[in-house]
Amino acid sequence: MADEPADPVAPATGGYVAIARKWRPSTLEEMSGQAHVTRTLKNSLTSGRLHHAFLFTGARGVGKTTAARAFARALQCAEGPTPTPCGVCGPCRDILAGTCTDVVEIDGASNNSVEDVRNLRDGVRYLPASARFRVYVIDEVHMLSKAAFNALLKTLEEPPPHVKFIFATTEVNKIPDTILSRVQRFDFKRIPATVVAARLRLICDAEHVPISDVGLQMIARAGEGSMRDAQSLLDQVISFGDASDDKQVADILGLVDRKFLYEMLRGVLRNEPERCLDSVQQVYDSGHELHQFTNELLELVRNATIATMSEGARRFLDVSNEEQAVLLDLTAGVPFEQLSRTFQVLLEVHDQVSRSMRPRLVLEMAVARLVAIRPAQSVGALVDRLADLERRLRGQGVAAPRGHDPEGERR
Ligand SMILES: Nc1ncnc2c1ncn2[C@@H]1O[C@H](COP(=O)(O)OP(=O)(O)OP(=O)(O)O)[C@@H](O)[C@H]1O
Ligand SMILES: [Mg+2]
Ligand SMILES: [Zn+2]
Repeated sequence: MADEPADPVAPATGGYVAIARKWRPSTLEEMSGQAHVTRTLKNSLTSGRLHHAFLFTGARGVGKTTAARAFARALQCAEGPTPTPCGVCGPCRDILAGTCTDVVEIDGASNNSVEDVRNLRDGVRYLPASARFRVYVIDEVHMLSKAAFNALLKTLEEPPPHVKFIFATTEVNKIPDTILSRVQRFDFKRIPATVVAARLRLICDAEHVPISDVGLQMIARAGEGSMRDAQSLLDQVISFGDASDDKQVADILGLVDRKFLYEMLRGVLRNEPERCLDSVQQVYDSGHELHQFTNELLELVRNATIATMSEGARRFLDVSNEEQAVLLDLTAGVPFEQLSRTFQVLLEVHDQVSRSMRPRLVLEMAVARLVAIRPAQSVGALVDRLADLERRLRGQGVAAPRGHDPEGERR
């Protein structure tokens, strides 16, 4: 059941239903990422120590509305309140079908006046019709007017025992402190690309969409932490091209083919300028902006650096396992400082390429600088080597050159 598509507004048959709608998780359990939120919510459901007002905040498309609906069902299930609502009782079925009158969803953007809040206050007095609570979900709650917030305060302070409020917002800074101090707040985080990719994999397998891990990772990264954005991009990839072809996926996302990024990095690390120049030309010919190329290259070098830092650091990589293997191979034996200097130089190059009227020339000229990067020796290491050299020279009975003789300074 957990992964069955469930969305009260998604039509059951006919027409294409967007993935984000069709695959909205119906339980807290099924949500990806946000474990810090779902764990606390589940604990409070199990222990029965339930606050009367909850605020879900965080970036767009990370699961606030989804969690609000799932939590409402967890509160209302006849077997509950429970983190694992049964799915078959009256309230569960009504909520899944979107017909439960005891879960009231209010769009804060269009119901933001004092009058709207007064109506809400009147409604709050009535006992639930068939479920345990009357749950008010106010989405985009930051859109309420100042007067509306004030009208809400009293109810929020001492609501009747059968009432629960769930507020959701992307802009917590617009919520008055008086409201904030009366709610239990949950901060939703951006979802890591690898976690998004795992969810997309589950969806693609269920929908029989052939796509590689590299393709999914590109889509997940392009979603920039938003599950909804990543799922919309997946929709586009499926409808505009062949999802199993990484190059097409990159094209649709407007990304540079990963092949050229790797070729460029290989050329830089192996001192093969012709490889780099060839990648620049190919990327240029394919019509991509070169500053996008350098931007993606920066991310690749960041990942390459992390791959070489330590085993433990590898969990911060946001590339597919396949790419991780390639990166490890490519960076084997490359000292950490070389990568970090490459990043530094590339950062400058990216800046110049972004601002230049002749980005291609700038990038081609930069290739010489990039391939010339060798790990810098620390001053300490140089001094040690010098001292060592002197010791050996003295041992052979050869006088050390005056200027470099530390003893000489004391004479
Ligand atoms: N944590 C998640 N796990 C699984 N799917 C998710 C998650 N977050 C979002 N989604 C998917 O993205 C869609 C949009 O999520 P949701 O409406 O919950 O986002 P939101 O945080 O309320 O965004 P907004 O601020 O734009 O209202 C959902 O239908 C669902 O398919
Ligand atoms: Mg929402
Ligand atoms: Zn139930």
